Amino acid sequence: MMYRDQHASNSAFPTTRLRRLRYHPAVRRLVQETRVSPADLILPLFVRPGRNVREEISAMPGNYQLSPDLLAEEVGRAADLGLGGVILFGIPAEKDAFGSDATRETGIVSEAVRAAKRAAPDALVITDVCFCEYTDHGHCGVFSEATGRKDVDNDATLKLLAEQAVVHARAGADMVAPSGMMDGMVGAIRQGLDAAGFPHVPIMSYAAKYASAFYGPFREAAECAPQFGDRRSYQMDPAAAAEQAVREVELDLAEGADIIMVKPALAYLDVIRQLHDLWPGVPLAAYNVSGEFSMVKAAAERGWLDEKAVALESLTAIKRAGAGIILSYWAKDVAGWLG
Ligand code: PBG
Repeated sequence: MMYRDQHASNSAFPTTRLRRLRYHPAVRRLVQETRVSPADLILPLFVRPGRNVREEISAMPGNYQLSPDLLAEEVGRAADLGLGGVILFGIPAEKDAFGSDATRETGIVSEAVRAAKRAAPDALVITDVCFCEYTDHGHCGVFSEATGRKDVDNDATLKLLAEQAVVHARAGADMVAPSGMMDGMVGAIRQGLDAAGFPHVPIMSYAAKYASAFYGPFREAAECAPQFGDRRSYQMDPAAAAEQAVREVELDLAEGADIIMVKPALAYLDVIRQLHDLWPGVPLAAYNVSGEFSMVKAAAERGWLDEKAVALESLTAIKRAGAGIILSYWAKDVAGWLG
């Protein structure tokens, strides 16, 4: 307010004409503060077992489930384009109640990480650490027989998350990203990694992850729709006070999170802004999720929207709100568009 009061008196029309900042493309460029660059972007990739498998995800045109060999090539391309990194999601050959594939050295993500790091040693390979892709019930953790409750057992899941993160790190993952919204997940994973000899591996925590309908297309991509119920007992309520996101971040930072994330992005720009203002020194990521991508694709296919313009405007808005890192299915396109 001070700023406004001080400046209001000497800045009236016609002395001040803000259009002077817009009349010339070079002037506009000069005063642009927000620039999206490929280095800010992380590309989500989906890996499934096999060789030479490349199956398009129908709800996410241009995105594929890839076998580890083709995924490794894709990671190489992402690195060549100057992207910030990739994040891997696995679709295992078999699912069970405990998501066993996720904690196996021979599991699909571990195999993919090894292939990717062999093909592109310099690429930043991040793994999503969660159980929903590996459990037959599709929930982000395990259920405990003892309690008999139809709700994910938080503390039993923590142990498994730590195991999963260690298995990924052993395979060569450069960073892990827990997305299951279990209380204490960051601390459990940090302890697990430290004890296993990976104190240098950073944790990017999905700190403020909402129970969102914008994940619809992803559930086809990762074949992980919950078989019963929903995720509202662990993911955040979109209508909760934004300060609940602040509490989530406080806890994750105290437990050792290195990078925090808000997800989805576009409907939660207020949350991004608030977290950035509170912790300007903490790297903040936002996940421009599947629904945010697919709805633009669908409209563009009908000729209703200009995909490139809308994508760049969306990413610019997410960055302007305060996210320095963006996970986006447009990451490769952006590298091409920006030349
Ligand atoms: C799994 C996970 C999900 C997404 C990322 N990690 C799905 C979910 O929570 O239901 C969604 C990503 C997207 O929609 O692009 N925990």
